[in-house]
Amino acid sequence: MNSPDRLPLTSKNPLKLDSTPVPLLDVNRGNSLIRDEIIAAITQVVDSGRFLHGPEVGELECAMAGVAKTKHAIGCAAGSDALLLALMALDICPGDEVILPSFTFFATASCVSRVGAKIVFVDIDPSTYNLSPETVRDAITSRTKAIIPVHLFGQCAPMDEICAIATANKIPVIEDAAQAIGAAYKDRPAGAWGEIGCFSFYPTKNLGGMGDGGILTCQDDAITAKIRLYASHGMQPRYHHKVIGINSRLDTIQAAILGLKLNRLNEYTHSRQANATRYHQWFSEAGIETGIYGQFDLPKTIPGALHVWNQYGIRVHQGRRDQLKAHLQEQKIGAEIYYPIPLHMQECYRSLGYVEGSLPETEKASKEILHIPIYPELTLLEQRTVVDAIKCFYASAAYRRVA
Ligand SMILES: Cc1ncc(COP(=O)(O)O)c(C=O)c1O
Repeated sequence: MNSPDRLPLTSKNPLKLDSTPVPLLDVNRGNSLIRDEIIAAITQVVDSGRFLHGPEVGELECAMAGVAKTKHAIGCAAGSDALLLALMALDICPGDEVILPSFTFFATASCVSRVGAKIVFVDIDPSTYNLSPETVRDAITSRTKAIIPVHLFGQCAPMDEICAIATANKIPVIEDAAQAIGAAYKDRPAGAWGEIGCFSFYPTKNLGGMGDGGILTCQDDAITAKIRLYASHGMQPRYHHKVIGINSRLDTIQAAILGLKLNRLNEYTHSRQANATRYHQWFSEAGIETGIYGQFDLPKTIPGALHVWNQYGIRVHQGRRDQLKAHLQEQKIGAEIYYPIPLHMQECYRSLGYVEGSLPETEKASKEILHIPIYPELTLLEQRTVVDAIKCFYASAAYRRVA
């Protein structure tokens, strides 16, 4: 078993390892490997002049429906728009309540505000950061018109239980699968559980575009038709507006690039999974996980989940998260907090009346979580550097003095 005293610290600074910088994410590494193909795909769209509604959009929609095992997929301009369109297509309106987690990116909530419905934030399962079915059940009222579970960091929420509660109460489920393309739970893919699945192609996502983009997945023909209607100004036929929609399209150039990358999604996912396994192993070997230093939890995967590791978040105890983050940054190792301020504590949602302590697990997670590099092209040396830097932090005299 490793002893803190035997860790390789430099003599000048006990907190300092001699290491090369490790970015939290480097999108150029993956993109550069297929640069020629990307340029060729963009050139083809440029030459075609079909910057909107080009054939690449339909091809991507088809391929995405294959990934999510749904009948339909509908491209749109961003993951945020996908969520908004989902609510519009399900006729969510003022007076309705929508249940969602507070521990998520802002877009999960802002779409509800945009349609004028009331947000009902509920607490998370602290081991996965995903919606807990019990809190969902407790929050349902006669006004509940949708539930939005988020598959946070690449792991599906317990969708069997959430969907069972939703079905029993005749409430549609919108999956926020922005971070979970390719993930699955009990062999059913993210995006195939709820009435609608919403995905993001933001560049940091597992399938990252070169700009904004999003897609919705759906099994139902009528809902799909409504999504398409709302995404095109509610216009059908041309210059006849049936409903007040928005303008949200996936550009042909983005679709062409994403199509290329979608062919490699499994490869990207496997690399992320291998990195996660390696972190687990190396942290365990270092004795950190087992509590030699007493100090942090590794991310948990629930039985039945196919995790795609959009993020790898460690849970740092004893109030040391910010100290560890500063230490990593000092060593030029990328580390980030997703999410430092839960949505129910945001200024713009003050009027909803939540106070500190309203969602204890969410608030605790936002104070303890810290994300470290997990992207597919991370090298073994870089990963070792991250692990050593964390070991070094816990082994340092400075740490033990204040512990
Ligand atoms: C959980 C979650 N929901 C929604 C979104 C919104 O996606 P986009 O940035 O493509 O609008 C994101 C991405 O940033 C996200 O992480």
